[in-house]
Amino acid sequence: MASGLATYDALLRDAAVALTAAGIDNARFEARLLLAHAGGVSVEWLIAHGGEVAPVAAVEALRALTARRVRREPMAYVVGEREFWGLPFKVSPAVLVPRPDSETLIEAALALMPGRTKPWRIVDLGVGSGCLLLTLLREFPNARGVGMDASAAALTMAATNAEALGVGARASLVDGDWRQPGWAERLGGPFDLLVANPPYVETAAIDGLMPDVAQFEPRLALDGGGDGLAAYRAIAGEAAGLVVPGGRVLIEAGEGQAPEISRLFSDAGFGVGMPWRDLGGIDRIVPATH
Ligand SMILES: C[S@@+](CC[C@H](N)C(=O)[O-])C[C@H]1O[C@@H](n2cnc3c(N)ncnc32)[C@H](O)[C@@H]1O
Repeated sequence: MASGLATYDALLRDAAVALTAAGIDNARFEARLLLAHAGGVSVEWLIAHGGEVAPVAAVEALRALTARRVRREPMAYVVGEREFWGLPFKVSPAVLVPRPDSETLIEAALALMPGRTKPWRIVDLGVGSGCLLLTLLREFPNARGVGMDASAAALTMAATNAEALGVGARASLVDGDWRQPGWAERLGGPFDLLVANPPYVETAAIDGLMPDVAQFEPRLALDGGGDGLAAYRAIAGEAAGLVVPGGRVLIEAGEGQAPEISRLFSDAGFGVGMPWRDLGGIDRIVPATH
């Protein structure tokens, strides 16, 4: 990689070559994001000023960031942020990287919850970075929400994001584990809307996921047990007590899991609708009404 007096364009080229050699798609695009982050400048600024010599600090920062990405650490962890629903979320290896597919849940909530200004009570089980709960609190300005997670580090990240997004006063973040008896009673329900994106990967399939996911994202956020459905059973088992009559559940499903998840909520006394499809055409969000 270039060092000493290198222009931004030369640094960009070198970083893109290193990322390509590591088998990363969109290497030039990612290299530009890393360089912008390293230099503390915008991507637009880089395009206009590529011929200028970069400060030594930016050269060194880029070297460190590129080395992390070459080891397949997800871009979101390397730059510490990921956009979700047009909002910036801080992320760290303590939380799942927010996925575009999960934006389908926000679309469903906006379509199914009548009245943007109603004081809805929302609970998010497995809140992680807070991308679901905090986006909903932004979209429903009078709603209040509870986010539960078994990871203390995830709750800290969600709290940071809640403050940064200006919804901290309407969000409570609660340490809780749906594997433990009595978890649901501590949430202060019932709620008008229950949302969740639980861990849904079958334990045996985790090591076969792409390295960015398998080696870097938290196991607690991925591992759905032997058949991938352990968390859904726990959540469906308490859902009737957590959701008001007429209230909604919107729960994310892994590919092919929607029929089984629908059955779990149907058995729990909910009316289950057609799943919402994500942009890839996969049945992603199971909607259920109490
Ligand atoms: C797939 S991630 C989803 C995070 C976030 N809601 C999102 O959509 O990006 C699942 C989350 O559930 C949490 N979790 C896993 N097992 C849990 C349990 N037994 N009790 C509570 N939270 C749990 C994980 O820590 C993780 O934050």
